[in-house]
Amino acid sequence: MYAQMVKSEATNDDPERLAAFQARIDAGEKIEPKDWMPEGYRKTLIRQIGQHAHSEIVGQLPEGNWITRAPTLERKAILLAKVQDEAGHGLYLYCAAETLGVSRDELTEMLLDGRMKYSSIFNYPTLNWADIGAVGWLVDGAAIMNQVPLQRTSFGPYSRAMIRICKEESFHQRQGYDAIRKMAEGTPEQRRMAQDALNRLWFPSLMMFGPSDKDSVHSEQSMKWKIKMNTNDELRQKFVDQTVPQIEFLGLDLPDPGIKWNEERGHYDYTDPDWSEFYDVIKGNGPCNTDRLAARNKAWDDGKWVRDGLLAHARKKAAARVAAE
Ligand code: 3HC
Repeated sequence: MYAQMVKSEATNDDPERLAAFQARIDAGEKIEPKDWMPEGYRKTLIRQIGQHAHSEIVGQLPEGNWITRAPTLERKAILLAKVQDEAGHGLYLYCAAETLGVSRDELTEMLLDGRMKYSSIFNYPTLNWADIGAVGWLVDGAAIMNQVPLQRTSFGPYSRAMIRICKEESFHQRQGYDAIRKMAEGTPEQRRMAQDALNRLWFPSLMMFGPSDKDSVHSEQSMKWKIKMNTNDELRQKFVDQTVPQIEFLGLDLPDPGIKWNEERGHYDYTDPDWSEFYDVIKGNGPCNTDRLAARNKAWDDGKWVRDGLLAHARKKAAARVAAE
């Protein structure tokens, strides 16, 4: 049932109802969980919000592994706070998805058995401290570029979750830029590490925005429903335009020889990522896919006794309430 459910599609709903629904969206109204919605709208939201929630949770892994190795107490405290924030983001998003009639357990099980995805970026390793700076700067930078417009998305609970998430993501991006700036202004070896991190994470960061518009399966319908507010290429271009001056300010070399200001377009030209690598990574063949899913499976299995205990407690309380009535 759920393999089917996570596929987004326009469904055969009553045309009049569909038109009234579309008119609400076009007028900028928020859709709330108890409102009528087309089944395709609900499925698309569950797919996108669920995938987003999983990304927040899996995204803790590449950074969490540096908490014990942060170079100073201050950097450790900052990283610890950031990783905790990501857990919180996952929880807000799972709550938003739950209002659409899917439970957190079901979503997690779909992640663990490969029916749902998480962001491709988290299948790349963080090899050293410069990578942690680059993740905050580039990965959270790309995430915000995508998420700020989602604050205006049509589904109320998703849009409200995004407002809170964006406030925190902006701190994440700044701390990453500050960490990488320290490295870029440091010893020749630290500067070399910063450059290497930028070179390795640049194209995977561009991939976060999804395939190019001509290959995006869901964009057209999702934008009509205001589940997405921009196309993948629009946001990727904004990210490149914002980040190139930051690279120049850091005095680092551009990670792509194809980056050039295009006067006519008023944007930077850049080289597309290797899309065959992107599809390979989202199929499960990236450098860290196996490790990431193994870690999530272990956490799920290890936490079973806690879930069981909480459920038993809740059942006991409910039974006592019924008995007292
Ligand atoms: N990683 C993994 N899969 C991706 C992907 C990516 N970077 N980009 C696209 N895909 C998948 C899609 O899920 C879809 O597959 P499916 O049909 O099996 O679900 C397929 O590739 C085709 O892509 P589309 O462009 O048609 O898909 P979407 O319309 O869903 O667009 C998206 C993709 C732009 C990522 C959109 O889903 C979106 O805006 N999602 C919300 C934001 C989000 O998920 N962000 C995660 C970033 S990480 C993060 O926030 C953590 C923070 O701490 C850094």
